[in-house]
Parts: sequence; structure tokens; C-alpha cells
Amino acid sequence: AANFANVPKEFQSRVPPYAKLIANLEKVKAITNNSPLTLAEKILYSHLCDPEESIKSSDLRDIRGLEYLKLNPDRVAMQDASAQMALLQFMTTGLAQTAVPASIHCDHLIVGRDGESQDLSSSIATNKEVFDFLQSCADKYGIQFWGPGSGIIHQIVLENFSAPGLMMLGTDSHTPNAGGLGAIAIGVGGADAVDALTGTPWELKAPKILGVKLTGSMQGWTSPKDVITKLAGMLTVRGGTGYIVEYFGDGVKNLSCTGMATICNMGAEIGATTSTFPYQEAHSRYLKATGRSVMAAAADVALNKYNFLKADSGAEYDKVIEINLSELEPHVNGPFTPDLSTPISEFGAKCSKENWPQKISAGLIGSCTNSSYQDMTRAADLVRQASQAGLKPRIPFFVTPGSEQIRATLEKDGLVKTFEDNGAIVLANACGPCIGQWDRQDVTKTSKETNSIFTSFNRNFRARNDGNRNTMNFLTSPEMVTAMIYSGDAQFNPMRDAIKLDDGSDFRFKAPSGVELPQTGFVSGRKEFYPPTDPTPDPSVEIKVSPTSDRLQLLEPFKPWNGKELKTNVLMKVEGKCTTDHISAAGVWLKYKGHLENISFNTLIGAQNKETGEVNKAYDFDGTAYGIPELMIKWKQEERPWTVVAEHNYGEGSAREHAALSPKFLGGQILLVKSFARIHETNLKKQGMLPLTFANEEDYDRISSGDVLETVGLVEMIEKEGANGGLLDVKITKPSGESFVIKTRHTMSKDQVEFFKAGSAINYIGEIRRA
Ligand code: F3S
Repeated sequence: AANFANVPKEFQSRVPPYAKLIANLEKVKAITNNSPLTLAEKILYSHLCDPEESIKSSDLRDIRGLEYLKLNPDRVAMQDASAQMALLQFMTTGLAQTAVPASIHCDHLIVGRDGESQDLSSSIATNKEVFDFLQSCADKYGIQFWGPGSGIIHQIVLENFSAPGLMMLGTDSHTPNAGGLGAIAIGVGGADAVDALTGTPWELKAPKILGVKLTGSMQGWTSPKDVITKLAGMLTVRGGTGYIVEYFGDGVKNLSCTGMATICNMGAEIGATTSTFPYQEAHSRYLKATGRSVMAAAADVALNKYNFLKADSGAEYDKVIEINLSELEPHVNGPFTPDLSTPISEFGAKCSKENWPQKISAGLIGSCTNSSYQDMTRAADLVRQASQAGLKPRIPFFVTPGSEQIRATLEKDGLVKTFEDNGAIVLANACGPCIGQWDRQDVTKTSKETNSIFTSFNRNFRARNDGNRNTMNFLTSPEMVTAMIYSGDAQFNPMRDAIKLDDGSDFRFKAPSGVELPQTGFVSGRKEFYPPTDPTPDPSVEIKVSPTSDRLQLLEPFKPWNGKELKTNVLMKVEGKCTTDHISAAGVWLKYKGHLENISFNTLIGAQNKETGEVNKAYDFDGTAYGIPELMIKWKQEERPWTVVAEHNYGEGSAREHAALSPKFLGGQILLVKSFARIHETNLKKQGMLPLTFANEEDYDRISSGDVLETVGLVEMIEKEGANGGLLDVKITKPSGESFVIKTRHTMSKDQVEFFKAGSAINYIGEIRRA
């Protein structure tokens, strides 16, 4: 432990508590007879509150996917949209400060349209009330406040907080980005963040471990993005569910730290709990380049002296997938789902077969996924090649830097000028077009015509970028996007095809080249974007929430369970894909994240009704059609609790907790589906809902809207000590009076049963804290 004792004060909140973690791991090793552990297990189990209580078998493979772990995360990060609800919930606990270091990042509420200076000032004006609220919470509770324009949460976390062996929670689904620097970083809803913020053990079902063995090294056009776009194609959006993805193999040492972050970032697209990499030279280089030599030195000791930060030899994975980087081809994924993966050599043919628009309407690079120095130098190299040949972009081109540090460094090294001189619009250091905040001028939100965009972002659900359901977003590397803007043709393959120049000659791109880290170092840029390192809580700060505000509303606790079986009506049956974007749309609705009543008007408006094929239509008993939230409000007023029935991977996509809060607020009690996305299922439980899955999928077809759906044996299940998942009968009664019982499954742990009883996790935490 002496090795870790001399950490300078300004790094004490950022260096993982290695001495404590290693000591905890020793306890785990004692229970498991020193059997080899994967890296993910080492990091996770070193954060157990009480190893003796959590680990009941000497073989950790026995608890993977089965037991719940109680963990102590080191840190919490929150973005401006989800932070509002997290903090409104934290306020209800009455604590004076957060139990672990935390940060707030104002990134999601910034519009992308004309470029940083115009967009930032107009977005600050529009969202002033929310930013002021967040700042006041930060001041009161001692949270770091990264204001609008400072950067995107995941890039700032990578540059400042992520560290090998760290465990953090973030209220955003792409929090796993920090795994690129060897952390276990998990995306959660605000209620989970409140666990960590209040020092309450955070529960996670012990994940299975998926090993991805990387061999070889990338060449030419191939980039880290292609590792994950290829993997998404292999595994699908559900393939990572219940797993932590752990990368290993000789190929890892050929990746940059930021490249690893890109790969971990998009692990969210395969539904993985998180992804991580073993500590490498590249991590040490990145830590040093970003002013954190102290953290690199501590990690060196943790690795070399204590064998932490890498898997033990002989560690076993539940599954192993191998990718040879030397043979990896650039991929393009989409439209509308990130797992529809096509190698670039086949994309042109696929495009014509599927009748996707041949003309591309815009190219966008950057975001939290792909705005590293390496990404941008490779993209700028292509811009320079094209410019030297006299080519200009044929379609609008947008660049989103991930942080002020990266933007200022690109400016210092002439890259901002290269992009702007060649027609690019450099947007604010914020999410903008990645989260429906693209105030697009060339295509309206309601346009019926399909159009295609190429982006280096991570997600491509319908309406994700510009609010238009007919915009097809094809996800690929920044290099591919950049080459595409010079042809404007989706069937162009920059590795093979030429572009005709004005003089009739052919121009061909050479494979891009870039630089991992800036040779003359990073610069931090404008000082006003940087908060103090360790803010002190100030209890005298008053948090102002105007009672007349339409953006912020103090929370009323949900009512506790009445101790009886649940009796509900089926409000609707959802057909097919139902992501958190369908359940709780972003875009214009982001405005109401802090106002539960107002945002609930978006509940399930993107969902398709199985019985009629219509989107956002549900039918009352007399056949009257309503918008889905309108019928929920009506039934709430009539005190008629409801159930929604849906298909696979319900709640796929994000940690968006409004997708659980709003249904609960509008009187929902049960979600009965074929399967859940992990984060969403947890969020439902945190809000006191009962998430159930069909034991037999075919039963989905036997239920109709309007049916009565009642639990049978819930009371007994709740009373049973230590419920840890199991079967629950549900009785369905048709309007004709005919009835039958089906089997469903629940996955509630003992604590989650308490959330259900109390009405929500926050109610339960409040009860404990006040006791
Ligand atoms: Fe923001 Fe898009 Fe990343 S919304 S956090 S840039 S995924």
C-alpha cells in the first residue's frame, strides 16, 4: 500500500483507490482458491462492498449471470439531460454532499446548426434555467460542473477521470467509452447514479464475460471503429446482453487509447454491460499526454507489483470471438440499426439492392465516439489530399470536437483551419446532431422522402439525428465519412473508386495517415470551460426551481405498493423494435427532462401498435383512438392501472430513465415483454414497476389490448425472503370472460423487491437514510 500513499492532492480524487482494491481482491482470491480471473472480474470484484457476502462459490463461473453483486463505484458522471432527474432524485434524499466524486457535463442540450459561436450562445439562452439549476446543484453538493461548450461527457471523462481499474457509473449509455482507458464504466439511469451518490451499494447481476481476442494490426483505411462495427454485425444488438466485453490478444498493443475508447463506446450498441481493455503502453502514453503522469505511475505499480489491471493467465471467458485486425475491412452499418453491418467492398451493391438513396445528403464526423486527435488527423489528411486535387465537398460537412481540449489542440495544429477552409462547419464541443439537436436546414423533420447521411457517430435509430424518421444514418469511421463527402455517392468505395476532376482526370484517395497524439502536446484552450478540480460543497446554496417552470418540476414520491396482487388492463401491444428512443423520444423532448409531467407526453409515441400497424395509436374500450400517452393519462385519471406488452430487447439503446419514469408516472404497473435490454429493465425496477418476460414467447400472440392482466402469487413472491428472480403466474381475462394463466419470469433481487414495495428505489433509499 505504501506505493500508493504519495499521490498529490489534486489527483487524490482521480487515482483509483488501488491499495483498497488490491486488498479487496486478495479476499476474493482467498475465497476462490486463487483461481485465475478475467480483467473485468478483477476490477468488478475489487469494488465489492463485501466479498464474503457476494461470493458464495469458490468458482466465479458459478455466479456469472446469476448472482447480484453489491458494488462501491468510485465516481459518477452525468450529462445535462439525465443529470436533471438524477439530481431531482438526489435532492429528495436530503443529503448535504455526494458520497463519491461526481461531475455534470452540459452537452446534450446544445444545438448544431451554424457553428460553435452562434449555436452555443443561442443554446445557452434557451436552456439557461436548466444550466443554472445544474450549476446550483453542483455548487451545493460539491459536484464538478462542466458548462455548455466544455465538451461531451465521455471525451471529458476520458481526458480527465478514466483510469485503469476505475469503476464508474455514468447517466448515459455510452459511459463504457471510459473502458478504452481500462476502466469498468457502466451506463445507468439517474436512480442508479443516486445509489452511488448517496453511498448506497449499487447492485449489478454478475455479468458473463465475453472475450474478444484481437490479433494482427490495422492497415490503410481500417480504423478502430471497424472493430466494433464488425462485432455489432456478428453479435447483433442483443448479442452482448448480460456480458462485459473484455478485449485481449496481441492485437491490443497495436491500438491507440482513443481507438480503444471508440471500440468500448459502441459496445453499448451490442447491449453489453460495458467493455474494457487491459492496461497498455498506449494508456500510459495517453495519461502522460493529458497531464496525468501521476496516474500512469500508480497504474504501473498496480500492474507490475500486484498483477492488477490485466487478466490472469488461464482466465476463462464464457465465449470468445477472434478478430484479425490485419484482415479487417472498413464497415458501414445501418440504416436504422447499428448491427446491419456491411463491408465497404459490398456496400455499393447492397445499396442498390436495398434501394437506399444513392445520393448522400450530409457527412458528419466527431462526437463522443470519434473525435480523437488520431481520428481528426486522419480525416484532415483526406481533406488535404482532396483539396490539393482541387476538390470541394459535394455535400454539407460537419465536424463535432469532443472537448475544448481536443478542439483547441486541433486549432493549434491547423486542423480546424483545414476543415473550415474546405467547407466544413465546426460545431460546438457538444452532442448536437448526435442526439436530435441538429437544426437541419435542407431537410424538414416531416419530409416523407428518404435521405441518407454518413456519420462517425454510434447510434442510428430512426429520427435520432434530425428528428426525421426517413433519414437513413449510416455509421462508419471518420475516414470513410470524410472520403464520402467528396463523392456524395453512397456507392463510392474510396479504397477502389476514382472521382472525376474538372479536367477529366481521375482522382483517387491514398489511404489516410494520422498521428496518435499531438507532437507538441495538447493545449487546454479557453480557461472558462474548466471547473475547479475538487469543488467544496456549500450548503448555503439555494436550488431554485420555479413552480411555474415548464422545464423543471420537483418530484412527488410514487405511492408505495398496496400489498395486493396487481390487476391491470393491457393498454397496447407493441410490435417489433422498441428502443428507448421509441419509448421516450429525445430531440425536442430533451427540453423537458427535468419536468416529469411535461416530458411524459412523449411516452411511447414512437411505438408501433401490433394490432393496427399504426405508430402512436392506442384504442380505448369503446374503440376511440388516442395517442398513446393521451390514453395513459385518461386511464390514470380513471384509476385504471395498465400493462404494455412488447417483443424482444424492449428498451434497447440507452440509459434513459424517463423511459421508466414516465410509464410509472402515467399509471403503468407492468411491462410484459419477450425480452428486455438490461439497463431499461433495471430502470423499471428502480421506479417500482414490475418488468416481466414471457416464459413462453408464443403467449405474446394470445394477449390483446383491453384484456385484463392480473398477477397470481405476487404477494407470496414478495413475502418470500430473498427473492432472486423466478417464475410468476399471470392470469389473462378476455372481454368475453374467457381466461387462462401464463407463466412469466421476473428478475427481482431482494433489494429490488424492496424498491417495488416502497414505490421506487429512491423512496427506499430515503427510508433507510431517514431511519
Ligand atoms: Fe452525446 Fe451522442 Fe455521445 S448524444 S454523448 S455525442 S452518443
